[in-house]
Amino acid sequence: MNAADQRPSPDMRVRLGTLELRNPVMTASGTFGSGREFSDFVDLERLGAVVTKGVSMEPWPGNDSPRIAETASGMLNSIGLQNPGVERFVERDLAWLRTLDVPVVVNVSGHSTGEYARVIERIEQAGGADAYEVNISCPNVDAGGMVFGTACGPASEVTRSCRAATQRPLIVKLSPNVTDVVEIAKAVASEGADAVALINTLLGMAIDAESRRPKLARVVGGLSGPAIKPIALRMVWQVAAALDIPVVGMGGITTAEDAVEFMLAGASGVAIGTANFVDPTTTLRVIDGLTTWCRERDVARVADLIGALET
Ligand SMILES: Cc1cc2nc3c(=O)[nH]c(=O)nc-3n(C[C@H](O)[C@H](O)[C@H](O)COP(=O)(O)O)c2cc1C
Repeated sequence: MNAADQRPSPDMRVRLGTLELRNPVMTASGTFGSGREFSDFVDLERLGAVVTKGVSMEPWPGNDSPRIAETASGMLNSIGLQNPGVERFVERDLAWLRTLDVPVVVNVSGHSTGEYARVIERIEQAGGADAYEVNISCPNVDAGGMVFGTACGPASEVTRSCRAATQRPLIVKLSPNVTDVVEIAKAVASEGADAVALINTLLGMAIDAESRRPKLARVVGGLSGPAIKPIALRMVWQVAAALDIPVVGMGGITTAEDAVEFMLAGASGVAIGTANFVDPTTTLRVIDGLTTWCRERDVARVADLIGALET
């Protein structure tokens, strides 16, 4: 046993408003199913929180295939918020998740302002989630999605109507496909968002030169994975400096050190997305690595890293 192993375990708890997490590591929506799909690989009760795939009022089939393309240090997806609809989600997925001792954050999507609030109301009737993450930033749908997240007016409107639908913590997920992410973040904060999450995927495309065809049926899709990490870090840092509500950071996190970087930039929590497809146990590896990282450096509380960047 080396000297670091004998040092006390750091306090790994963090807070997102009134929601306390046992550690900062969450799943990124859409990359972990509703949790159950990964439960053979991951003890879900060790996670900071399970964030579900986006849920809408009615079932959505998603976009045509191909809707995934690998890129240098990342991937493009144009899944398009495929989901079974809120009724099925409540009966099958939420009921199962509720049997576990882990905070459940339901990611909410919609074609209209009213749909987001209706999804939340339905889940509240069924006993509620621990928090809601409102996705105003999906680049893969024609109506709704990113349309709400790229201008202050619609972003405020969706936040206001979701705020009226629940007293529970409301996390608004922001799009990186904007000129000024800070102004959108401020707009949703002023409508009562308890936290913001960023970043969703960046709009991109891939072409197959031989066939002269786009690699995705929808032509464009959302870029994720390590390729986007520097952009995500920059945006988290900008938003955390400008807002006094917590920030959940994501975009290319694959290691504990990546998670530390996001926390130094100002994130109170971090989410793992694309890396789950490479190694389904990434979340646990990052939790263990983050604990060791803190212990070896005598960081008594992981929360002490939040915004501790020295410039
Ligand atoms: C296949 C796929 C599906 C996604 N689905 C959703 C979704 O339903 N709702 C959402 O808010 N974000 C969704 N995202 C975005 C991720 O939650 C995350 O914000 C983004 O991928 C950046 O993190 P990463 O680089 O660690 O993957 C999806 C991403 C991928 C790759």
